Amino acid sequence: MEIGIAFDLKADHATRSGEPDDRYEEFDSIETVEGVERALVRGGHTTRRLGGGRRFLESVLARPCELVFNLAEGFGSRSREAHVPAVLELLRIPYTHSDPLTLAATLDKAVAKRLVASHGIATPRFRVVESIDAAKAIDLEFPLFAKPLFEGSSIGVRKRSRVANADELVVRAGELLADYGEPVLVEEYCSGPEFTVGILGNGAKARVLGVMEVVPKLVPREEFVYSLEVKRSDDWRNEIDLHVPPRRPAEFVARIADLALMSFRALECRDLARIDLRCDARGEPRFLEANPLPGIRPGWSDLALLCELAHFEYDDLILGVVDAARERWGL
Ligand SMILES: Nc1ncnc2c1ncn2[C@@H]1O[C@H](COP(=O)(O)OP(=O)(O)OP(=O)(O)O)[C@@H](O)[C@H]1O
Ligand SMILES: [Mg+2]
Repeated sequence: MEIGIAFDLKADHATRSGEPDDRYEEFDSIETVEGVERALVRGGHTTRRLGGGRRFLESVLARPCELVFNLAEGFGSRSREAHVPAVLELLRIPYTHSDPLTLAATLDKAVAKRLVASHGIATPRFRVVESIDAAKAIDLEFPLFAKPLFEGSSIGVRKRSRVANADELVVRAGELLADYGEPVLVEEYCSGPEFTVGILGNGAKARVLGVMEVVPKLVPREEFVYSLEVKRSDDWRNEIDLHVPPRRPAEFVARIADLALMSFRALECRDLARIDLRCDARGEPRFLEANPLPGIRPGWSDLALLCELAHFEYDDLILGVVDAARERWGL
């Protein structure tokens, strides 16, 4: 079938002066689009680049496609990831990945946390802070973690996101409020092991592709942050090890996988998602956040690395997403 690819490229968004240098970190590189195209063509499909924003709109209005493979992060608000699927629903064009409601609800991390908590899934206690005064008045136990409320791709997540006391929190919250112009999520810091879980498919067929543990090599785990500094580092392999499956008892790994699957279902994710979890100081796993449009740059993104380590072919990942979407849409 002809599959259109919706995407926003980092290269199309130059950082302006005064903006933090990670402002457009969530956007894709052309390698992702090329990787998806290659896989789709190998699967017997033809592809069409739709891009994002107005270019995407004009392209689908000029000529619809049979299915859109959605990579578009959108631009401008906490509902930005919902823009492309909302337009496609308006035009009755089938698309891959989650629907607008799930994409918007998960981008706002506090909304996602409330939703999973209402399904009995544990997540760190938190407050949403919109001013320095609110940061000063926080009533949670330190250490805490401060991050922008509705960003991903580690935007605004740094080593100094972990704050040990009220003074550090006020400084970090002030920086985040000024840099990103959005509320700050302040939550309890989980000092235990960290996991990310890839999930493919829907309903009873939703399957865990693998559980990956991110193991810090240079800093003690109690201080580790899987931050932009680590993710952008050329020699990240010196800073972390990635274990798929984690070198832990099988029952524990199964528990992490189950929690991720429960979160996927609680948030009504579709086709593909990556769920991040981390254990608290007592070793109890906690939901951190869900990524229903996970990065899939070959050889680079966490999910692509997870699949490599799980011996799950990249092409099978992309074609698996298409198959899951086709089944949902009856195509
Ligand atoms: N409450 C917390 N306790 C401990 N570490 C945390 C907490 N929240 C975030 N982190 C650390 O910061 C990292 C990034 O946080 P998070 O996953 O929320 O941000 P993101 O930008 O959405 O990530 P991604 O790059 O997966 O899109 C986590 O992988 C983890 O290492
Ligand atoms: Mg994350």
